[in-house]
Formats: sequence, structure tokens, C-alpha cells
Amino acid sequence: MKTQARYACQQCGALAPKWAGRCEACGAWNSMVEELPLATPPKGLGPTGLGSGGRRGGRLDFVALRGETAGPPRLLTGIAELDRVCGGGLVAGSTILVGGDPGIGKSTLLLQAAAALAARGSDAAYITGEEAIDQVRLRAERLGVADTPVRLASAASVRDIMAALDDKRAPDLVVIDSIQTMYLDTLDSAPGTVSQVRGAAQELIGLAKRRGLIVVLVGHVTKEGLIAGPRVLEHMVDTVLYFEGERGHQFRILRAVKNRFGATDEIGVFEMSDRGLVEVPNPSALFLADRSNAETEPGEEGGRTAGAAVFAGIEGTRPVLVEVQALVAPSLLGTPRRAVVGWDSTRLAMITAVLDARCGLSVGANDIYLNIAGGLRIVEPAADLAVAAALISALTETPVPADTVVFGEIGLSGRVRPVAHAEARLKEAAKLGFAEAWVPLRPAGRGARLARTGEGLATVPIGHLSELVARLPAAPRRRVQPAGSRRFAAAP
Ligand code: TYD
Ligand code: MG
Repeated sequence: MKTQARYACQQCGALAPKWAGRCEACGAWNSMVEELPLATPPKGLGPTGLGSGGRRGGRLDFVALRGETAGPPRLLTGIAELDRVCGGGLVAGSTILVGGDPGIGKSTLLLQAAAALAARGSDAAYITGEEAIDQVRLRAERLGVADTPVRLASAASVRDIMAALDDKRAPDLVVIDSIQTMYLDTLDSAPGTVSQVRGAAQELIGLAKRRGLIVVLVGHVTKEGLIAGPRVLEHMVDTVLYFEGERGHQFRILRAVKNRFGATDEIGVFEMSDRGLVEVPNPSALFLADRSNAETEPGEEGGRTAGAAVFAGIEGTRPVLVEVQALVAPSLLGTPRRAVVGWDSTRLAMITAVLDARCGLSVGANDIYLNIAGGLRIVEPAADLAVAAALISALTETPVPADTVVFGEIGLSGRVRPVAHAEARLKEAAKLGFAEAWVPLRPAGRGARLARTGEGLATVPIGHLSELVARLPAAPRRRVQPAGSRRFAAAP
């Protein structure tokens, strides 16, 4: 054990004997902070602490794989979006980390969750180390939950928290807001440093396991990731949820990135209102809301503008329809600009390269701006075809038909590959009134099944990217007139 180490990276937790401007382990800049070395591992707090808990005598009891197992007991908050992201309720004895930028709505969500549980007869406690009691009370008032029997306390010392909770009267759920404000008095470093965050979390995780209660830890992440927390905690807790959202957008997405008791990639969608977070049970309608508004506006081609395509995606177990928007403009000087919001820029580079090399277009030489409307972040390769459709449409100034959804993965050869959950995607599109879907060419025999799934939805198989290009031919007046005069140009 390196007892010499005096500096700890606040991003990844790596230890180093000397200060350095850059962490050798993770490459983060300016992240090394002096922390006093631990001569011994942090002591448990009191007789029930980590030091004495667990098995004595170092004996292991091996058991067979098959045995009596009931699924873990779960508590439902009644906030369906939250319960689903957690894998169908919160598991007793587990620790959940909720990370996210400051101000995104973590405290709001968790106060609502605690109140919802309390209202259903569970014992819920909320410990704030960040805000004053009055602030939390004001928020509770605003959320309309001030009368629910949530136990509220202001504390930052883990010793105090353990003293209050580590007995038979432990609550069913305790929210710790936030883990960065908690400290162990057995450690010398300041609250918020890696060793404090790790040590405090370790105690609280131990508490959850011993007493079978649910511990929810709030952790702030800054853009620079400089505040210690979520990164080092991810390995320790059972479930990691990230709360995300674009500033300026009302809705927030709760995403499971790790879950020992359920699927990851699941998302919950909320809208921040003046009375807290409201569930959004049908996100597609929300993400496409701006689109239907745009259609009623007067404009070209019956309200459709070029450079947009609706992607039929899957988030976790749920289909979600979103609009992919692209703007392609001649690059004036030097290296073409790329700006991507909500998607992977490496993947964009790949698709422009395939469009150029396999379809004879010259997209790559232009400035490209790509946006996933509404602030959703998409990671599925299935979005490739929709991104390509938006790019081609922007380049040729030919709108993708308004009632069409698109999905499919693109290979380097330009071939369009089938993707998972095609049926669910088509169903959702049909439900929302779409009439046509541009989809990968399925292997023989399965196509028939595909066509039947989405009632009233015609599927157009796209086997190669060039077939997509052929569907969006260049408008004849393209790039001849300056943009302003286009509307008045006579048709040829
Ligand atoms: P908060 O939960 O304090 O964020 P975090 O704990 O992640 O730092 O949320 C803060 C923001 O939410 C704040 O900008 C105000 C807004 N908000 C509402 O719009 N409506 C509400 O009912 C509440 C309670 C907060
Ligand atoms: Mg907060």
C-alpha cells in the first residue's frame, strides 16, 4: 500500500506522491489535491461501524448457484418515470447515486420522491447538507408536498447521521443532499475531496446494507468534472442515475448508466414546471411538439423545410421519436466547421465520409451543424440513416416528407444494416400518425412481418445509402439564387 501518496486526483481518485499539473492516470488537468495519507483505513463509527460489521473469523460459506431467491424487495414511489429507470422501484438495501449539473433539479426530484413515498406510508428522511431547512421547506411548499410526513434534517457530519439512523428505527429511504457536503471527522481532508466523498459514501452504503434501507446520494458534476464525487462513487454504489437536460429546455432526462437491479439505458422524462417536475409519459409527442407548430406556419413546400428528418429511436425499453436537424453551408475559409448537439461527432464524420465516398456527394467540404431537437442525446447507431437523411435533405434542399420516419445503421460500405426493435419503432410511428417509414432492407422472409406491424404505415426498404440519396434529389433551383430571393423564383 502506498502510504506515501499525498496527492489525489479529484477526478479519478489516482494517488501520486508529488503534485503534478496533470493526472498521470486519467489525464485531467489541475485535478491533483493534497490529501493526508491514510495510515489505516477509515475506522467504522461506533460499534456498528464497518470495522466490526460482517463476518468474523474470515470464513467463507460457499453455496450452490440454485437456491431460494425472491426478487429484491422494492419500494414504488408512484413516480412512474423514476420507478422505471430504477428497474421497477427502489431496491431496499441499495444505494443510488443521482448525479447531474448544479441546478438541473436533483433536489427537486428527490424531495418529490421522498414525499411520494411518505405519502404512501413509507418512512422517508431527507438530509440536506447544502441548503437551510427554510429553503427546503419553501421548496416543499412550492411542490405542494409540505404536509407529507417526510423527516427533514440539516446535517453534514456522517457521525451524526449514523447516530440518528443506524438503529432499528431506521427509515425506509434516506436522501443525502449532497454527498459533497458530507464529512467524516476521522479524516483530515476537507469535505468534497475524494477521500471524504469516498469515506462518507462507504459509511452510508454500509448503513444501507445493514439496515436494509434505501440510500440516495446526490452528487454534483461540473462541466470540468473537478468536484470529486460521481466518478469515484460509480463503482461503489448499486445504481447510478444521471439527471440531464439542456439549459433553456424545460424537460429533464433521468438516465440509468449503471444498475445492479435493472436495465441500463433506461430513461425517464420529466418536465420542469412551476410546481416541480412533472412526468412525461409520452416523450415522442413532446419532442415532436415544435415540429407540428412549424407545420402550421406559412413557408416553403407546405411548411416543410429541408434538413430535418424524424428518427424513430429506442431509449431503454421505450420508443422515442425525435427530429434530427442539419444545416449544411458552404465553408468559407479553412477547415470546415462542425457543430453537433445531442449526437456523436465521430459518427457524423463517418457518415459524411460515406456519403462522399459511396454516393458521390460532397457533404464533407461544407460547414455542418447537426442538432437533435429538444435537447435529447442519442447514442444509438440506428440514428445513422436519419442523420444521413437530414444531411442529404439539407444539401439538396429537398424536404423529407413530413409523415415519414427514418431509422437504420450505416456501414462503411454504404450498406444500411438492420437494427433491433424495428417493430416497436414502427408501432410508435404509426401511433403518432406517421404514414411511411424508411427502414433497412430486412433479410428475406422477415420483411413481410415488418410490413404488418405498423398498421397503416408503409415501409420503404433502403438497402444502400445511395437509395436514400435517390429519394431526396436536388431541387432544380438549388444553390442558384441567394437564399432571400428563393421564395419568389419562378419554377423552371
Ligand atoms: P434544484 O432541484 O435545486 O437543482 P439541483 O438540486 O440539481 O441543484 O432545481 C433548481 C432549479 O429548478 C431552479 O433553477 C428552479 C427550478 N425549479 C422550478 O422551475 N420549479 C420548481 O417547482 C422548483 C422546485 C424548482
Ligand atoms: Mg440541490
